[in-house]
Amino acid sequence: METLYQHQPRYQPKKRLLRTLGIVCLTGLLMSCGVKDNVKILKLGHNLDQTTSVHKAMVFMGERLHELSGGTMRVDVYPSGQLGSERELIELLQVGSLAMTKVSASPMEGFVPEMRIFSIPYVFRNEEHLWRFLESDVGKGMLAKGEDKRLRGIGYYDAGSRSFYSQCGTGKPIRTPSDLSGLKVRVQESQTSVRMIQALGGSATPISWGELYTALQQGVVDAAENNPPSFYLSKHFEVCKLFTIDEHTSVPDVMLISSYVWSTLSEQQQIWLQQAMDESVDFQRELWARDTQEALAAVQAAGVEVVYPDKTLFQEQVKSMHESYRGEPIYDLMQRINDM
Ligand code: GCU
Repeated sequence: METLYQHQPRYQPKKRLLRTLGIVCLTGLLMSCGVKDNVKILKLGHNLDQTTSVHKAMVFMGERLHELSGGTMRVDVYPSGQLGSERELIELLQVGSLAMTKVSASPMEGFVPEMRIFSIPYVFRNEEHLWRFLESDVGKGMLAKGEDKRLRGIGYYDAGSRSFYSQCGTGKPIRTPSDLSGLKVRVQESQTSVRMIQALGGSATPISWGELYTALQQGVVDAAENNPPSFYLSKHFEVCKLFTIDEHTSVPDVMLISSYVWSTLSEQQQIWLQQAMDESVDFQRELWARDTQEALAAVQAAGVEVVYPDKTLFQEQVKSMHESYRGEPIYDLMQRINDM
């Protein structure tokens, strides 16, 4: 059985630790949160571009927090991975060097094992099914599960469903599951995503989002997978010319606050922050639907072929992966979600 990191020669935990410590020192200077002119400032780092609906929603959240608190609270947003990769940002929250981050639920599975559910393919039938789960007690409860790791989830943003993009440089196209055979496919830092690619016959390479454009360009990987806005706004479509809408997973984005920083907020400040977050979710979900359509049209206009494959072929191929969870609590969760 291949392990998560077998295919990632550049992944060096020691180096990563050093980098994280470097960032800790840097952000130690920045401070995770502070009070300036009587305004409580929360620093928020994330790895998406400023043109994404998710970034816009975070700015909206900051503005609402400012209003609700009568100008006594503010969120400063640092986009585009300036403060580190998603895993590094999560680690900064744990040590209290950064107040907030928005990450994909995929790397969160390393901290909250239940979050694996989002990276198991074809658990959710569609967007509506996913949100029924996210808004259920179990879905909301999952946000609280990181507390013992000093990570408090305060909400989910929409990140649609993920599909394969291929024909990157000289890489082969993915039109059916058998096309994955022998292909090197980039995944997030998530063991479950690695297992999915293996179940489909490909070989998985975890690479951080910020490094992916170059990795695709240089042929470090042959293909990747993501939702339409991410494919478009990251400009990966300049390198990869086939987008195969197989919608294998629906992985939401998660907003986190360091439990340490949360505990320094008064009850009233916590209420304002939660309300600002909840309002920003509605704001983002509206933008998301429009952005998805626009992204698909834009990549096609730029010469990308968008195809809708027979999804049942992909579903068949990952049945054994589903079965491999039998007897584990995650299997029961899959069943519960199926019945929702
Ligand atoms: C999505 C998600 C990001 C994540 C990215 C990835 O775009 O919103 O948070 O980093 O996928 O595949 O790495």
